[in-house]
Amino acid sequence: MQLPPSLQRALERLVATQPSAALEQAATTLSTRYREASAGNAPAINSLLEAVAYAAWRMPATYAALRAVFQRLAEAQPDFAPTRMLDIGAGSGAAIWAAAAQWPSLRRIVALERQPAIARIGEQLAADADLPPITWQRADVLALDRLPESDLVVMGYVYSEIEPAARAILLSRLWKATAGALVMVEPGTPAGHATILGARAELIKRDASILAPCPHTADCPLAAIGDWCHFAQRVARPAFQRRLKGAAAPFEDEKFAYLIAARRGAPPVNGRIVRHPITHSGRIELRICTAQGLQHITVTRSQGEAWRRARDSAWGDGWENDPPKDIGDSGAE
Ligand SMILES: C[S@@+](CC[C@H](N)C(=O)[O-])C[C@H]1O[C@@H](n2cnc3c(N)ncnc32)[C@H](O)[C@@H]1O
Repeated sequence: MQLPPSLQRALERLVATQPSAALEQAATTLSTRYREASAGNAPAINSLLEAVAYAAWRMPATYAALRAVFQRLAEAQPDFAPTRMLDIGAGSGAAIWAAAAQWPSLRRIVALERQPAIARIGEQLAADADLPPITWQRADVLALDRLPESDLVVMGYVYSEIEPAARAILLSRLWKATAGALVMVEPGTPAGHATILGARAELIKRDASILAPCPHTADCPLAAIGDWCHFAQRVARPAFQRRLKGAAAPFEDEKFAYLIAARRGAPPVNGRIVRHPITHSGRIELRICTAQGLQHITVTRSQGEAWRRARDSAWGDGWENDPPKDIGDSGAE
């Protein structure tokens, strides 16, 4: 996946406003602070320099994960055409760019962000872009009793920054504001998945339809074996980012966990591929999450149509069982 050229150019211009040594230092400090932060204890972005560093360091990856998740939502509901979007903890606006790329139907966006420095960067990046009108609201979402009703409500890499005691009430406000779909993305770590599972349980209590990744509302079979559900999106690293990170690889793989809850609909698939398919000569092994638990299936070349589907499938795709040939792995690998 590539960043939209207009976003890449806007980031390049932004990065050029700061001395590169200071930017590198700020990015390193920020990334250490993020790694050391505990749940609900988010590191502050204290200055414009740090906000630019955040955008340069993280925005390509968070954009890519959000874009991948929005594609899953569009797959699940091809007729979903949101006009109103609410982006909670918008940061530098990755979700806005990703949603605008997915849904040309968007007409107005509210970006809620409590840290003024990063909101300013988000605003600056979007200033000359071909994006729907955005209202930037500098506010703490926890201080707002009511949120504007929106077709698409997004919380990208934010929920884990909310202190655990405040999460259920926030989620109920978010769900109340959701006219269409609520999308949450978190880091693809055991903690990120646990955060998503907490939100999933709350939303199921409120009769939300879980569209993805789970093809069911039963307990998570990965969590039951001490594993965690996550996916990955490869994204090209712009030159400024390779310099900033001192990284030679022209891409990075962003691991993420996610949840799409909707007002209507049912899971569009009866299985989800939860690991990279393993291809051998003449057979492909798939690990699939289903309502009946984890299934480890082997599809052979002789299976014709199923073989073609398996060959074209990737980690994160849906899988229609017909029915699966369970070779007995319902436990940890
Ligand atoms: C890790 S950043 C993610 C930014 C953006 N959503 C993205 O995906 O790149 C989390 C953002 O959420 C914001 N945030 C955290 N708690 C918040 C709250 N209670 N109200 C508003 N914003 C909040 C932070 O200030 C920060 O900008």
